[in-house]
Amino acid sequence: MLHRAIATKEQPVGWQDYVVPQDWESFTADDHAVWDLLFARQVDLLGTRVVTPFLDGIDLLRLSHPGVPDIEELNAILKPRTGWQTVAVAGLVPDEIFFGMLSERIFPVGNFIRTREELDYLEEPDCFHDMFGHIPMLANHDFAEMTKHIGELGSAAIAAGQGHKAARLYWHSVEFGLAREHGELKILGAGLASSFGEAHFSLESDAVERLPFSVGKAIDTPYKHDAFQPRYLVSETLEGTVDEVLGLSAERLLAL
Ligand SMILES: [Fe+2]
Repeated sequence: MLHRAIATKEQPVGWQDYVVPQDWESFTADDHAVWDLLFARQVDLLGTRVVTPFLDGIDLLRLSHPGVPDIEELNAILKPRTGWQTVAVAGLVPDEIFFGMLSERIFPVGNFIRTREELDYLEEPDCFHDMFGHIPMLANHDFAEMTKHIGELGSAAIAAGQGHKAARLYWHSVEFGLAREHGELKILGAGLASSFGEAHFSLESDAVERLPFSVGKAIDTPYKHDAFQPRYLVSETLEGTVDEVLGLSAERLLAL
């Protein structure tokens, strides 16, 4: 998520200025083959080690359909379900743009995919991370509402000069959260669900901390965006985390 800006106009005024055509026809046969390879490898790796709504979302959105998904086809299923839609962007967008998009149920998706030579090394999120990692959970009503609310909180926090609080909340839930499901530890966050190396590491490594998720703990916990996380926050239940985040006002976030 977040950070480096790639603007298409000199003075962008809103998130719309960062939207580019997906230009699905420009993906090559090899791009589509890379998607298929990544998809098959990741589904096999995850098995049932990811929360059930994620697996439901993969099925619902027909993400197993061969090749890079067409944004319009994806939106035709996603929008009627939770009101969310995806748009294509050329790369990472600034935090205020990103949170602004989330607050309007818009999720930015890179208009490119990694090369076969760099299957596991990513300078910035590509469409496999964005679509495979994020979009399935946005088909889940509760998670979709929570993500929109984090967008609203993020916009307010940035306006108050405290954007890091919302970034940490986002990071430890939507991006790198773990969650218990029927007592079993599962992957929740998109950064884990879409990662070949960190998916199992987050669940199995003895070298990391796993602490119970709370809004306060998330805001107090820094994160790394260029390495595996040293600490994961675990939602006792997905529903509990959704309720806690939805109950958080911007005023309370800023006071924490
Ligand atoms: Fe992400």
